[in-house]
Amino acid sequence: MANPKHIAFILDGNGRWAARRGLPRNMGHREGVKAIEKTLLALCELQIPYASFFAFSTDNWKRSKEEVDGLFSLAEEYFEKGIDFFNEHNIKVQIFGDRSAFSPKLQTIMQNVCEKTAQNTGLNAGFCLNYGGREDIVQAVNKLIESGEKIVTKQLISANLYSKDYPDPDFVIRTSGEQRISNFMLWQMSYAELYFPKVLWPDFDKKHLIKSLKVFSKRKRRFGGY
Ligand code: IPE
Ligand code: IPE
Ligand code: MG
Repeated sequence: MANPKHIAFILDGNGRWAARRGLPRNMGHREGVKAIEKTLLALCELQIPYASFFAFSTDNWKRSKEEVDGLFSLAEEYFEKGIDFFNEHNIKVQIFGDRSAFSPKLQTIMQNVCEKTAQNTGLNAGFCLNYGGREDIVQAVNKLIESGEKIVTKQLISANLYSKDYPDPDFVIRTSGEQRISNFMLWQMSYAELYFPKVLWPDFDKKHLIKSLKVFSKRKRRFGGY
């Protein structure tokens, strides 16, 4: 089977990666960012058109203030410094999730990275931050109510999700061996192929991506048919 058009990554295992080395959890997240960069390059090379990265869920606020603060300062640093990298590799960045909870500084940085990469025509990279699958559906329905729609359809919901410009993911990769969805793109992944490699996210690289694509190529997708 041809390569997937949209790979949705659930980046998991940063904390365990750090714990195994006796390091603080935020060191795992820092290493996780490096794995995102490596993966972006490999996706460009393999000409995958869309990728999304679940990096902070609406439930991750339950973590310690230290970890949450560390994650958001990492996000500021990454999206501020990353513009040159994204443009060099023709990557168009979008951010999916409720940004209103972020600091004004991070909101500005996010808007800037989206604007400054909007003209790129290569890989579409969607970063899911303060994102939840149920929350995504609810905000889509609320937008429809506000615009005066009387009847909701599947097409209208899809067209109002954060990921409206992306095709539904055909392949979901969750690292670290956990076999659950944890409230990621619930609506969008109705027929996605799921894959749960054991590798921890900071160790994920091009060879893991190629192995994953091999797994995908062997799946038989039926969509309810035969
Ligand atoms: C994924 O790694 C990154 C985020 C959810 C922010 P975790 O931080 O969940 O790592 P583990 O699951 O504790 O190993
Ligand atoms: C899922 O990972 C969310 C992200 C990768 C951002 P979690 O580590 O938060 O999920 P659970 O708690 O193991 O289900
Ligand atoms: Mg986890």
